[in-house]
Amino acid sequence: MFTLNVNGQSHDVDVPPDMPLLWVLRDVVGLTGTKFGCGVAQCGACTVHVAGQAMRSCVLPVSALGSRPVTTVEAVGQTPAGQKVQQAWLEIEVVQCGYCQSGQVMSAAALLTHTPDPTDADIDAAMSGNICRCGTYARIREAIKLAATGRTTAMPTVPIAAPAGPGAQS
Ligand code: FES
Ligand code: FES
Repeated sequence: MFTLNVNGQSHDVDVPPDMPLLWVLRDVVGLTGTKFGCGVAQCGACTVHVAGQAMRSCVLPVSALGSRPVTTVEAVGQTPAGQKVQQAWLEIEVVQCGYCQSGQVMSAAALLTHTPDPTDADIDAAMSGNICRCGTYARIREAIKLAATGRTTAMPTVPIAAPAGPGAQS
């Protein structure tokens, strides 16, 4: 039996000590905002905060938590950095399919908590472990900068190719 502090609430969970935190959050506590992607700490979909640090919950045994509090995407909007990140995500319309985005938001919020005005290199270092198969990376970077500074920067525009097929001009 373990007692977890998740999003400010105490949960007694009767689980094996080697059960990954991700499984406990989703299947025992019932918080499904944190996603399973790879299960081997390679994609970032399962990112949560443990005592304010971004961690991959898919490879973190519940017994390793100790008394450290956990914050998930369900509550990160109640933190100053998390609130700014979520507002910027909406303003920039970052999300495509959405599957990776709870992990992206958690990594971005942890970055801004510890580095309020990050450089491009800071952003790359903090976000490089969060994979997005929809390729929303440019919007993620823009949203982090908006959350940090309150300002947007010019996004690169991608020319739209003319459709090929009958009637298309070469
Ligand atoms: S599911 Fe944890 S890093 Fe991919
Ligand atoms: S928005 Fe689809 S995987 Fe990132």
